[in-house]
Amino acid sequence: MPKINILAIDTSCDDTSVAVLQNDRVLANIVSSQIDIHKEWGGIVPNLARREHERMIDGCVNSALKRSGIKKFSALQAIAVTYGPGLAPALQVGVARAKELALQNKLPLIAVNHMEGHILSVFLKNSKGKYYSGVDKMKFPLMGMSISGGHTEIVWAKKLGDYCLLGQTLDDAAGEAFDKVARMLDLGYPGGQVISHLAKKGNEHKYDLPRPMKNKPNYDFSFSGLKTACLYNTNDLKKQLKTKFAQIIPDYCASFQAAVIESLLVKLIRAARAYQPKMVVIGGGVSANTKLRSQFRSAFKKIGIPVYFPGKKMCTDNAAMIGLVAFHKYKKQEFIKNIPKLDRDPSLVFKQCISRK
Ligand code: KG4
Ligand code: ZN
Repeated sequence: MPKINILAIDTSCDDTSVAVLQNDRVLANIVSSQIDIHKEWGGIVPNLARREHERMIDGCVNSALKRSGIKKFSALQAIAVTYGPGLAPALQVGVARAKELALQNKLPLIAVNHMEGHILSVFLKNSKGKYYSGVDKMKFPLMGMSISGGHTEIVWAKKLGDYCLLGQTLDDAAGEAFDKVARMLDLGYPGGQVISHLAKKGNEHKYDLPRPMKNKPNYDFSFSGLKTACLYNTNDLKKQLKTKFAQIIPDYCASFQAAVIESLLVKLIRAARAYQPKMVVIGGGVSANTKLRSQFRSAFKKIGIPVYFPGKKMCTDNAAMIGLVAFHKYKKQEFIKNIPKLDRDPSLVFKQCISRK
């Protein structure tokens, strides 16, 4: 196999990321986070995201090339970019820059679905060729779960590049629930890291929070009921907080986190039992959660199906996962035929699976 060097760009949300891969190995993965900018607003402001992507993108491209040792565009075989799903003004910046780079340097352009990136992120290798996730190889059919700030979905993959949706959230994404509950309790943004940290010292049995959709015989999720339940509790909690923060908040965070993890796990286990994939792969920011990882691992051990998680840095948005998808597309020569015409697709989705078990 010849060495294929790809420069990949992801600006789908609030991280400007540029990576350089050699085949499936990550040579550089630059992520410039906008957390400090959006923190003030308690969530992502699309136009601020666009402005920041525009400010950062060229610096990220240069740093990725430099850090990878590839250094010049003439040593690349292709440019890759996320074209959806995501925030339109944010996607726009990466797509426009990738088109310019491909045309200026006479390189093929590969357009990547961000969700395929999350699903395949467990198959990223470091520069020495070792998988970050500890997986030994890709086996199909596989089942994927993406759990992030924008998505919560279970995906069935018969083979590489062939995906359909078994289930998804009907309202908020799991990460969004973490972010909103953290905001209600004035704990900071993004909520996932803060809540999981506080939850470590808490008792998850202290508060009885709902697991919406748990008993519905499908593979869909809902987190808005849990969020509303938390909202009802907020005033009460806040009153007690001044004196009892040390006890209440960790217990509440642990109880909330347990409700999210159980809601996700019940559906994923049900789907895995029904479909019997060769492996289950998880991706997205919420999959960095330590408690979730240990609970998923022990549940899957019981049913004898291997489950894998990305390296911690590959859970949240990054361009390395986009470069990996692009490498597989490169092998099939799946290039954009008319580069100037490529447009972002903010609401890009996998098709629904036809046969349901
Ligand atoms: O994949 P990602 O970077 O962005 C999207 O594509 O949305 O995921 C970000 C989300 C945020 O909602 C954040 O609160 C959540 O992932 N997150 C976590 C943890 N780390 C990040 N949620 C739970 N536990 C964590 N340790
Ligand atoms: Zn994402």
